[in-house]
Amino acid sequence: MAILVTGGAGYIGSHTVIELLNEGHEVVIVDDYSNSKPEVLNRIKELSGKDFVFHEVDITDKDALKEVFKQHDLEAVIHFAGYKAVGESVAKPLMYYRNNLNGTIALMELMNEFDVKNMVFSSSATVYGMNNEAPFTEDMPLSTTNPYGTTKLFIEQFIQDQVAADPSWSAALLRYFNPIGAHESGRIGEDPNDIPNNLMPYITQVAVGKLEKLSVYGDDYDTPDGTGVRDYIHVVDLAKGHIKALESVLETRGVEAYNLGTGVGYSVLDVVKAFEAANNVEIPYQIVDRRPGDIGSGYADATKAHKVLDWAAELGIEDMCRDSWNWQNSNPNGYA
Ligand code: NAD
Ligand code: WQD
Repeated sequence: MAILVTGGAGYIGSHTVIELLNEGHEVVIVDDYSNSKPEVLNRIKELSGKDFVFHEVDITDKDALKEVFKQHDLEAVIHFAGYKAVGESVAKPLMYYRNNLNGTIALMELMNEFDVKNMVFSSSATVYGMNNEAPFTEDMPLSTTNPYGTTKLFIEQFIQDQVAADPSWSAALLRYFNPIGAHESGRIGEDPNDIPNNLMPYITQVAVGKLEKLSVYGDDYDTPDGTGVRDYIHVVDLAKGHIKALESVLETRGVEAYNLGTGVGYSVLDVVKAFEAANNVEIPYQIVDRRPGDIGSGYADATKAHKVLDWAAELGIEDMCRDSWNWQNSNPNGYA
């Protein structure tokens, strides 16, 4: 039986597919390439030495997605597919609601129809909103500050409601903190369209000379150096967390949320310094105003994933900085 991976050509999906193949799983990927490129599939084959099935399908196209369910004997779904840019979601909320929510509803209806009731979902630490104090625990009240985050909150609720309605379902809601880094080979990594919104891809593009300098969004937060603190997690550790979550989903019933983070917070300037030290490059920066919607400090209490899933992040900030740079430096134009 195979694992269906929606959005498997994307940044986190591609790293997770490698771990799935390494563990001996059969993999079926669906992706519409709205934020990824076909070349990643060659790289996954090259790194894993294994084959998998790919369907170019937009998951909001239920008829097309149904053909995939008809063709394969599926055991579980790992659901990454969705749009993820916070600022774009504020400008184009309906585009985000349509893609992320309609896509998930079509997917879950087909999971019911074809009796594939095991699901791992890509949620986000963004669901902790602005009113909780770090470290965040899974039982804290949830809220959001932008349409992207709201889609994550709604989908968590869809899944909670579906599991309540049908106890033969099993699901894990994985709340990722800040994924960075790349496969240690430097062959796959994050390849943002346009100017990056997130810190690490911005830093690597400054390092490679595509961007002039980093703007640090505020140095007046209530943090040790005044800049924003986040829980950066190596994408390969995150990918391994999906294997553990999948195993748990297959062995149990019900729904659980898990924080996938390291439990350690680093400030923006910590990351800049760590990147410079790990890679022997200089990152010019300027302090600018806060970015609207940002919190001062956000990091995980990762105890639950450790206890229940037997998962913990193993790679540190140096590994994350080295691997992010290795990917960018050896692929200055990404997969293009
Ligand atoms: P990504 O954009 O690299 O990957 C998402 C993939 O989904 C892309 O390949 C895109 O082409 C595909 N996709 C989007 N809409 C689709 C649709 N309708 N049909 C088929 N394919 C579609 O993003 P990522 O960083 O790998 O994130 C994966 C998931 O994790 C997303 O759901 C994202 O919201 C979530 N997440 C990401 C982060 C992060 O910082 N990267 C943090 C928390 C949660
Ligand atoms: C990290 C820190 C910025 C860029 C976002 C989403 C979240 C999740 C992960 C989901 C903050 C600072 C950033 C820059 C800066 N995504 N920064 N200059 O905002 O924690 O989380 O990505 O898919 O939902 O909100 O991540 O990398 O944007 O920012 O100073 O050019 O770096 O202010 O303190 P964030 P980020």
